Amino acid sequence: MVGIKIDGKEIAQSVKDRIRKAVDELKKQGIIPCLATILVGDNQASATYVKNKHIACEEVGILTKDFKLASDITQSELNKIILELNNDKTIHGILVQLPLPNQLDEFATTSRISPLKDVDGLTPHNVGLLAMKKAALIACTPLGVMEMFDYHDIELQGKTVVLINRSSLVGKPLYHLLLARDATVITCHSKTKNIKEMCQLADIIITAVGDRSKFTLTPDMIKKDAVVIDVAISKYNEKLVGDADYEQIIQKAAYATPVPGGVGPMTVAMLLKNTITAASLNSQNER
Ligand code: GUN
Repeated sequence: MVGIKIDGKEIAQSVKDRIRKAVDELKKQGIIPCLATILVGDNQASATYVKNKHIACEEVGILTKDFKLASDITQSELNKIILELNNDKTIHGILVQLPLPNQLDEFATTSRISPLKDVDGLTPHNVGLLAMKKAALIACTPLGVMEMFDYHDIELQGKTVVLINRSSLVGKPLYHLLLARDATVITCHSKTKNIKEMCQLADIIITAVGDRSKFTLTPDMIKKDAVVIDVAISKYNEKLVGDADYEQIIQKAAYATPVPGGVGPMTVAMLLKNTITAASLNSQNER
């Protein structure tokens, strides 16, 4: 039997419907949620992602401020802009689109964002809170993946989950979120020796490599009725693809996400959720 498609567009729409109502409530209290985005340089993919984030904000009534900065901006110039946004009471969330050009340091940049405005959950404060199961602001893609499990009532307790990614935006936050739900989590990465055997153990595979020339998740690597969440998106043979070929994987999996139309829309929906969470946090902080 063919498995069930986890439709990111459909789930993201249901999240947006909830968020629109929450935005209306905030507005009744005199709070107009506003997200500032910072895009440095002219990376085309990043520009498209930021544009999609703005469109989604507009759909639910969240204001945006768009900072497009020259690719040769210095670290201290960027720091100054972040500081100004930290101090601006009309801004509730700050997102610096990654990756950054080489002269800029990701940690030096993201760790300068006020933890109350950190809609990517990347500051040391929020990363620490996540490990302690106390975080309010958590990286958007991992939150989106968890929402997908819950939408389909996919049980996590006691399940073996293989993560193929160890980044700050995907693998590490997912590790904590899944562990907090009593899953057994195995984190694989580029130096893991036996990825195929690891995947064959998994009830759930979450893959985010994003380079088909290095890695493809094929049906022979998964258990029958596994759940496959494909976070990757890259161009391969002129097509947008994930780490797995959805049409093949879904023949064996119980559930799988397509690419595009899977995790991508969820990342954007969770950014909206984090922005209204940040708006509430900031207003509580001012009282
Ligand atoms: N680049 C790719 N994904 C993300 C994300 O979730 N947040 C930011 N800031 N940059 C990204």
